[in-house]
Amino acid sequence: MTSASAPGKIILFGEHAVVYGQPALAVPVTQVHADVEILDSSKNGIWIDAPDVDLHAELNSLPSDHPLAAVIHNLLFFFSIDLFPNLRINISSTIPVASGLGSGAAVSVALIRTLSSHLDHPMTNEEINVMAYEIEKIHHGTPSGIDNTVIAYARPVYFVKGEPIEIFKVGKPFTIVIGDTGISALTKESVGDVRKLWESDKERWEKIFDQIGEIVKNAKEKIESGDWEELGELMNQNHALLQEMTVSSPELDQLVNAARKAGALGAKMSGGGRGGNMIALVEPEIAEAVSSSLKEAGAKNTIITMIHP
Ligand code: MEV
Repeated sequence: MTSASAPGKIILFGEHAVVYGQPALAVPVTQVHADVEILDSSKNGIWIDAPDVDLHAELNSLPSDHPLAAVIHNLLFFFSIDLFPNLRINISSTIPVASGLGSGAAVSVALIRTLSSHLDHPMTNEEINVMAYEIEKIHHGTPSGIDNTVIAYARPVYFVKGEPIEIFKVGKPFTIVIGDTGISALTKESVGDVRKLWESDKERWEKIFDQIGEIVKNAKEKIESGDWEELGELMNQNHALLQEMTVSSPELDQLVNAARKAGALGAKMSGGGRGGNMIALVEPEIAEAVSSSLKEAGAKNTIITMIHP
């Protein structure tokens, strides 16, 4: 048997604007993960079991643009394997689907990693990342590639679309509380809506994307120097611009406000928006209290995570 896992992720700064060439900062979240195990089987075919999404199917019964089928077909093609082996693939994930925590990318990365190692074709993180990006296009249409990158490398990344990956330095550890609205929202839709806004008035929206890009560059410096007060303020500014972009939602705003009221240094939605998760920067000693306030304000789940140097 071969197995591998991939973490979830949060975008700290710069979602959406990153699709238009601005930088963004993202970190892995290891408290949630996608897990894949592969076993040789005596049963004919490649059988996929993913109980979380109610899937039990043989590869050839899935449409070729099904993300899991696409991963397997692309890999077998990449390794020039014509005669498909008989396999059983078990997939599970603790990352809530359509919540902004990168569930799709994590499943792709874990599956690519497990299958390549089971077939004795080990792949570098870079190769895994390139392949996972192809699958992200099926999930999201026009992804920037940030989700697959932070998950494939499992390191904090300063990401600019089309540029070599840059791992960013964390000066001192900092604590983030993640709050889940429990509302699933497809990134594809919010990304598509932002595209419509951009097409309707490119000058206006590119100015906003530029402003977000400046916030991200500034945030990277504050993370390197450990200036948390300023970093929190930058989170608030980034959230306001995401609201203007129409990708926040009443539920996200409610959690963001609750976190600030409970003493967070700053808070914002994270990921595609319209539902999914928000994040709050907190002093470690008030993390539990902020988490409780988020639950009182309607969060279905919270995660406290520490970002380390
Ligand atoms: C999704 O996690 C982040 C977005 O910026 C989309 C993308 O970058 O592909 C909303």
